[in-house]
Amino acid sequence: MSKKMAIFVSGTGSIMEAIIAARLPVGLVLADRACKALRTAAQKEIPTELESRITCLDHEHKFNREIFTRRIGRQLIRYDIDLVMMAGFMTILHESIFKKYRGAIINTHPSLLPAFKGDHAVADTLRAGVKITGCTMHYATEVLDEGLIIDQRAVRVQSGDTVETLHERIKVEERKMVTENLRRLLAE
Ligand code: GRF
Repeated sequence: MSKKMAIFVSGTGSIMEAIIAARLPVGLVLADRACKALRTAAQKEIPTELESRITCLDHEHKFNREIFTRRIGRQLIRYDIDLVMMAGFMTILHESIFKKYRGAIINTHPSLLPAFKGDHAVADTLRAGVKITGCTMHYATEVLDEGLIIDQRAVRVQSGDTVETLHERIKVEERKMVTENLRRLLAE
């Protein structure tokens, strides 16, 4: 029996769209905020869930990562998910979920890790003046942009690149990298 995958999103969802266009089995699209990706998935009649970060606050009105992660875990059970692809998902999950879903939660990042971790990877890349960058697909852990690397693709930085132009060229490679590797991992 083939594995059932969830895609976690927070934004535009162009990588999610590439996964759907590649006809890979998507059992759930889950977002941590209202976003274009969630609306696109719903239009494509894929089951969607919104687990909003803003409803997950402790008594000091701070985001509670543990409770949020528990809610996510319940959705994975509810939809019978075996594999999670975080494609532009902006929340770091609590370590508890990585114990349960070891080797089953994957992330994609717009740099050649371990270089340029974090939310501003493409801007940091341009600032550093490197000439080659790219994207990395890796198993996620509770530490941001850490974990065993599955694949990487290189992208040349061009003179005159802005964050937008460079990020879009990286995403062209990311979409291919993610769909190709997911096809293989889902078949294992
Ligand atoms: C990708 O570059 C991903 O690596 C990063 O966010 C971007 C998501 O793009 N974490 P999109 O929303 O799929 O267009």
